Amino acid sequence: MANILVTGGAGYIGSHTCIELLNHGHEVVVFDNLSNSRYESLRRVQKITQKHLVFIEGDIRDADHLDQVFQSYSIDAVIHFAGLKAVGESQAMPLHYFDHNIAGSICLFQAMKRANVFHLVFSSSATVYDASNISPLHEEMPTGMPNNNYGYTKLIIEQMLQKLSAADARWSIALLRYFNPVGAHTSGLIGEDPQGIPNNLMPYLTQVAVGRLEQLAVYGDDYDTIDGTGVRDYIHVVDLANAHLCALENRLSTQGCRVWNIGTGQGSSVLQIIHAFEKVTGIKIPYQVAPRRSGDVATSFSDNQRAVQELAWQPQYGLAEMLADSWKWQQQNPSGYSSTQHKYK
Ligand code: NAD
Ligand code: UFG
Repeated sequence: MANILVTGGAGYIGSHTCIELLNHGHEVVVFDNLSNSRYESLRRVQKITQKHLVFIEGDIRDADHLDQVFQSYSIDAVIHFAGLKAVGESQAMPLHYFDHNIAGSICLFQAMKRANVFHLVFSSSATVYDASNISPLHEEMPTGMPNNNYGYTKLIIEQMLQKLSAADARWSIALLRYFNPVGAHTSGLIGEDPQGIPNNLMPYLTQVAVGRLEQLAVYGDDYDTIDGTGVRDYIHVVDLANAHLCALENRLSTQGCRVWNIGTGQGSSVLQIIHAFEKVTGIKIPYQVAPRRSGDVATSFSDNQRAVQELAWQPQYGLAEMLADSWKWQQQNPSGYSSTQHKYK
């Protein structure tokens, strides 16, 4: 069992990963500045697992604070989720994104090196693949120049980590390219809690279903896909969280830097998602077809065989469970975490 530092651990994917880490007997130290999350998620993680974790409010750009954390806890490995992820915002505020995501990551990697901690799992994204690749996307396909600054930061960090491990054999790094994380813990206690109007399909859809938003815009119905709408590889967040555990175990015993796709290998269109959601929940979703969203590709889904074979990981949840769990979370928490505010101090 290991001591794991989880940066960004109060967020959507991080909080689900904390549950899996605690349930597998690991000790967890979360380091998060709560810029896009609330401590409430971690209070609920501890309620679900009946286990304690350490929470430190801090910013990954703060080298002294990171040094203190590494000195205070005997950290074996880091899972690095902390960062900003809103594509539109990244276009309006490039420096802000370069600072948090790129400079913040460098600051973290330097602190790890000073503390002699060389095991790292990093949250990357399928957005780093070149848009001309034909799905299923596999890890050997070329990366491209992402058409937004958020994606660009993921590509730069991936490339830095590959160079870092090539230059110093002590590093052992997993680059996990997530496809489209959706769903929530089956308890309905934790889930995705976007600030403001959601950018992504699933939280938008569940907020329409719960009556917070009026109707869903379907961005384009003239793509070359099964029904003209965009196709993506949706993956249950609990399966994604488990992939971090598998990658961590792999990295604790192997050196080098390795990329893994984390998806189900199945594509679903926007209309398929809407209709499946209606079937699972019995709720009719009002929607209207709108123009294509700039920067979207028609189809993106994974070849996940490398992760299945090398990490002994297998997604367990199908689309119906992803939709049911997204809905359970939204229904039980119509305003997300905002109605419950517990201070951790
Ligand atoms: P999230 O916003 O819920 O979680 C990120 C967490 O990082 C938040 O709790 C936030 O408060 C924290 N944070 C941000 N900047 C920080 C800083 N400078 N110092 C300390 N903490 C900071 O997002 P998520 O969906 O859980 O995503 C986690 C990671 O996975 C991110 O790196 C994201 O880019 C990546 N990712 C997400 C998706 C997705 O669709 N959700 C897809 C691909 C990759
Ligand atoms: N969509 C709609 N209406 C909406 C929102 C989305 O029709 O209100 C459509 C999009 O056009 C797309 C699909 O639903 O066809 C999925 O869109 P999302 O915004 O949910 O997800 P993306 O595939 O655009 O992006 C996600 C993450 C990014 C990550 C990328 C990697 O949000 O962080 O996957 O492929 F980089």
